[in-house]
Amino acid sequence: MKILITGGAGFIGSNFIFYMLQTHPDYELICLDKLTYAGNLKTLEPVMKQANFKFVKGDIADRQAVFELFGSEKPEVVVNFAAESHVDRSIENPGVFLQTNVIGTQVLLDACRQFGVERYHQVSTDEVYGDLPLDRPDLFFTEQTPLHTSSPYSASKAGADLLCNAYQRTYNLPITISRCSNNYGPYQFPEKLIPLMIANALADKPLPVYGEGLNVRDWLYVEDHCRAIDLILQNGEAGQVYNIGGHNEMRNIDIVKLILKTLGKPESLITFVTDRKGHDMRYAIDPTFIHEKLGWLPETRFADGIQKTIEWYLSHKEWWQEIISGEYQGYYERMYGNR
Ligand code: NAD
Ligand code: TYD
Repeated sequence: MKILITGGAGFIGSNFIFYMLQTHPDYELICLDKLTYAGNLKTLEPVMKQANFKFVKGDIADRQAVFELFGSEKPEVVVNFAAESHVDRSIENPGVFLQTNVIGTQVLLDACRQFGVERYHQVSTDEVYGDLPLDRPDLFFTEQTPLHTSSPYSASKAGADLLCNAYQRTYNLPITISRCSNNYGPYQFPEKLIPLMIANALADKPLPVYGEGLNVRDWLYVEDHCRAIDLILQNGEAGQVYNIGGHNEMRNIDIVKLILKTLGKPESLITFVTDRKGHDMRYAIDPTFIHEKLGWLPETRFADGIQKTIEWYLSHKEWWQEIISGEYQGYYERMYGNR
């Protein structure tokens, strides 16, 4: 099986590459990544020389480059992780979110039509469902929940999902979509809540909690997510949406306090700052469908996953400190610029 993985130099994509190389050593993987600020090729260094892995630097929205890649590599399966992924950045600059998340998806879908694939899988988000109220803990997102977006990020992801459905129905393209909750684990860019708070706490810098910190997210350990996508590729049904999450709901403020406690840092580092515009209150996935259809359940409880994650950031300080210093951005040119 030959799989094209886009966005594989980012957080979830890199974890997925490691997971797939380990789980399916007979597969051939090609990673297409633009190496935006969120992509770090150093993450993939341990597998760069592996015979069944190939890295290609490129933009999913670059039609010519994408079609050339499909023509030369003829992937059988495409998994699209490539995206602008940070809500706060989408509030500052929506344009690049539409370009990558919508137009980039369209280019990939067109290439799949032209060259034919066994499966196109779109990695989406629970944020396309909007949010749930805090006073209705009985409500969860199912695959039938209407799309109702809040941020330019979630609107661009919903646009991409709708395009995927349109290509399935109109052109009979075999697509699947997964909508997962907030991921955490190794190699997450330190602009997202958990790595940002760990990095700031270790540097004794203020921990910026938006609003009152009462917003709830449903946390998914990244490896559980990778396993779910693998299952969808193996046994998922074309045209189907799968929600991935696992009743690991936590308030932001409680996560921040837990991180401080684990690191032995004082709660006085917490600083409440102006709330995010349009801030979603609560996300919560009902994973019944993927459990019943594919037998998937998350294996990592939040209490264990967060300890593993904190330990990873403690033992890989160089990885995130090079990101904070900006050092990582010249890595591709230094290592591969003249090759
Ligand atoms: P990330 O920001 O860590 O990584 C994104 C990767 O995509 C980077 O390597 C970047 O260089 C690459 N990329 C960006 N624009 C590109 C382009 N035009 N062409 C090629 N590559 C490009 O993101 P992540 O957290 O790993 O998220 C991966 C996917 O999962 C995204 O589609 C995101 O919407 C979705 N998702 C993430 C979460 C989460 O909690 N992180 C939750 C739900 C869904
Ligand atoms: P984030 O990691 O950006 O993920 P998302 O917005 O996709 O859920 O944020 C998770 C939660 O943490 C969200 O409610 C916003 C909040 N947050 C803060 O309070 N402070 C921060 O510095 C960041 C980055 C996020």
